[in-house]
Amino acid sequence: MGLSKKILVIPGDGIGAEVTTWGKAVLEKIGTDFGHTFTFDEALMGHEAIEATGTSLPDETLAKAKASDAILFGAVGHIKYDNDPSAKVRPEQGLLKIRKELGLYANLRPIMLFDELLDASSLKPEVLKGTDILFFRELTGDVYFGEKKRTEDFASDLMNYNRYEVERIAIKAYEAAKVRGKKLCSVDKANVLETSRLWREVVQEVAKRYPDVETEHMFVDNAAMQLVKNPKKFDVVVTANLFGDILTDEASQIAGSMGMLASASIGDGTGFFEPIHGSAHDIAGQDKANPLASILSVALMLEIGFGLKEEAKKVTSAVDKALKAGYRTGDIADSKTDKSKILGTKAMGQKVLEYL
Ligand code: IPM
Ligand code: MG
Repeated sequence: MGLSKKILVIPGDGIGAEVTTWGKAVLEKIGTDFGHTFTFDEALMGHEAIEATGTSLPDETLAKAKASDAILFGAVGHIKYDNDPSAKVRPEQGLLKIRKELGLYANLRPIMLFDELLDASSLKPEVLKGTDILFFRELTGDVYFGEKKRTEDFASDLMNYNRYEVERIAIKAYEAAKVRGKKLCSVDKANVLETSRLWREVVQEVAKRYPDVETEHMFVDNAAMQLVKNPKKFDVVVTANLFGDILTDEASQIAGSMGMLASASIGDGTGFFEPIHGSAHDIAGQDKANPLASILSVALMLEIGFGLKEEAKKVTSAVDKALKAGYRTGDIADSKTDKSKILGTKAMGQKVLEYL
């Protein structure tokens, strides 16, 4: 029997609307083909929301989010704020607030490698081939949410973690490692930071409950280096909010482009599915954005959010087929790409629908 799910689409800023359009179209097609009823609503967040309501996360958006079964998100951000450090209301606040309000403490960022894109990366194909990493980035703690202070000549962002916050993300990561390659790397900076020493202590404790999983603890500076030196050595990586933010952007280059990476933010309630790329205002409205990360976010929604494995696979394989047939958006094209197969956002979205 088909499922019935309410999905909230939050396109946000920049290329957000262009890419979520295709994520949504894929969901509609899957719904029709598999007999699921997906109903959609839309809400504002980020710069668009600030312009319309004065705040980056309007109450209405939060209420709709809480009432939905899953959220498909685009991106937030605007150059206007990037060069104005004094702006008090900022687009990113909406994203941080919704993560906190929905209790989305685990951000899963799979580094999925499509063989066809090995040449699109700036790293050597032989270094990349066979890489398959699943990042668990803690998402509701750390320096992101600690107390902030500012006077004219002083600024401080408090970095803090509670034991339970580390424990619950560690458990999620170990549960995944158990059914994957049985290897977990916990990344911290325990040689310097007290928060990292708590992190390591808790992960060591949780590790005892998973004797079949091989645990490694790695300092974040070393992890940044190992990721480009030998990415194949990683299976599941679990790390704190800030380290995870940085390392996953770095790891996106393993997959060829930021435009390819999807992510799932989960907690105990509604899941939130989004590309890891940002609002990319430099290419917004030009039909240049890569819609594949949004489409792959939908695959994560189907699998992790709704438990629909077969449907999720169908989506991933449609993306794979489009790539195998040689189609590329500009960000993943290389010198060998047939020029006639370099597509804009719409044509690439359409291609994936055809292969579905
Ligand atoms: C991400 C983004 C966000 C973050 C920004 C937009 C606040 O970089 O989701 O990785 O830092 O978490
Ligand atoms: Mg980031």
